[in-house]
Amino acid sequence: MYFFLVAIAAFFSLLIAGLIVYYAVKYRRRAPDAVGTVVHGGIVLEIAWTVIPLLISMVIFVWGASVFFAMSRPPEETMNVYVVGKQWMWKFQHLDGEREINELHVPVGRAVKLIMTSEDVIHDVFVPAFRVKADVLPGRYTHIWFQPTKPGRYHLFCAEYCGTRHSGMIGEVVVMEPSDYQAWLSGGAPEGSLASAGEKLFADLACNTCHRPEAQSRGPVLQGLFGKTVTLQTGETVVADEAYIRESILNPSAKVTAGFQPIMPTFQGLVSEEQLLELIEYVKSLR
Ligand code: CUA
Repeated sequence: MYFFLVAIAAFFSLLIAGLIVYYAVKYRRRAPDAVGTVVHGGIVLEIAWTVIPLLISMVIFVWGASVFFAMSRPPEETMNVYVVGKQWMWKFQHLDGEREINELHVPVGRAVKLIMTSEDVIHDVFVPAFRVKADVLPGRYTHIWFQPTKPGRYHLFCAEYCGTRHSGMIGEVVVMEPSDYQAWLSGGAPEGSLASAGEKLFADLACNTCHRPEAQSRGPVLQGLFGKTVTLQTGETVVADEAYIRESILNPSAKVTAGFQPIMPTFQGLVSEEQLLELIEYVKSLR
């Protein structure tokens, strides 16, 4: 698409420049007192220079929109990795418990989805080789996805000015053959999965005293919640995604499920960004 746009621009630039020269010569003044003939429009010409650019810009629009949709919609099956940006480092959290700083190991050929948030200010993940770039915002989850096709090491940058050491907030995406990736995974410290860490935290914070699997609990049942549509007290509905679960932990009275009282205390300041991810992953695991 890039080369198509360059070709279109080059073609019309050359055409126009060429025509300027050609007509300048063709319609030059031949006698000192010559006067040009007046032209009062031409409908064919008007239609031609309206329709041709319209068709070309529609091709660019449809092509561009399809690229945009492919970029913004991850496939169904992705390998999810959580990313937390902080002044000035990138923290990566794999679902099976592996943690990394400023380095992200992924297998070749798998679609990888990054679910990203920030602990402090706005950062921006940028992997030029994969053509992906997105802001990383405090208090929100943003997503990008990519499918590496070639093993190797690729630059990762922070692309949003975030303070003194912004320029040092860099890292690498390491794309490995699947067998190497498995070896790398098993070489790490044997930590539990993210969901199991979340399950432990869920008990430590006593969330399980109100959120029980039975329907008559004081808090909504969380089993099978993720991805479902929830009806709120106000009658509005909301999809239970990462952002909703996060908000419900930090600011429980913001979106109260219909049929429940706003009795849940806030956990603002009590759980870190990483612990929030563990809790979210635990809720996701409750199918
Ligand atoms: Cu983080 Cu710039």
